[in-house]
Amino acid sequence: GAPVKVNVGKIQPGQQIVAEWRGQPVFIVRRTEEILANLEKVASSVSDPESKASVQPEYVDRKLRSIKPEILVLVGLCTHLGCSPSFRPELAPADLGPEWVGGYFCPCHGSKYDLAGRVYKAQPAPLNLPVPPHSYESDNVIVVG
Ligand code: FES
Repeated sequence: GAPVKVNVGKIQPGQQIVAEWRGQPVFIVRRTEEILANLEKVASSVSDPESKASVQPEYVDRKLRSIKPEILVLVGLCTHLGCSPSFRPELAPADLGPEWVGGYFCPCHGSKYDLAGRVYKAQPAPLNLPVPPHSYESDNVIVVG
């Protein structure tokens, strides 16, 4: 499939847009300082905090899983059986409990991921959500693929 250009300049802080690349959903999130701070807090609760076993390009940070800290780009397919996880950025929603600091929840079998796509421990999903190859064409335009 051809590379896909996405303008990330209009994504509001804390929000996500969904692009498509090779028939797969690509989640793109503008992370806030609070979200980035929460990634540190949950590092001991995720199973592969430094993405040693997970899939991402060489040039992304292994903990933040991004090129720029604020812009997260993920393949939006659960590493269990490929459902598309729901974006649940809110803190402590009624259905996910007081410990929840925002992340992704897979509706199929309940796998939970943080806002770096890192899977929590003891979930059906074995690995973090993959980061697709991507680059910045300009400050606000990324090319996926
Ligand atoms: Fe996501 Fe099974 S496909 S938990």
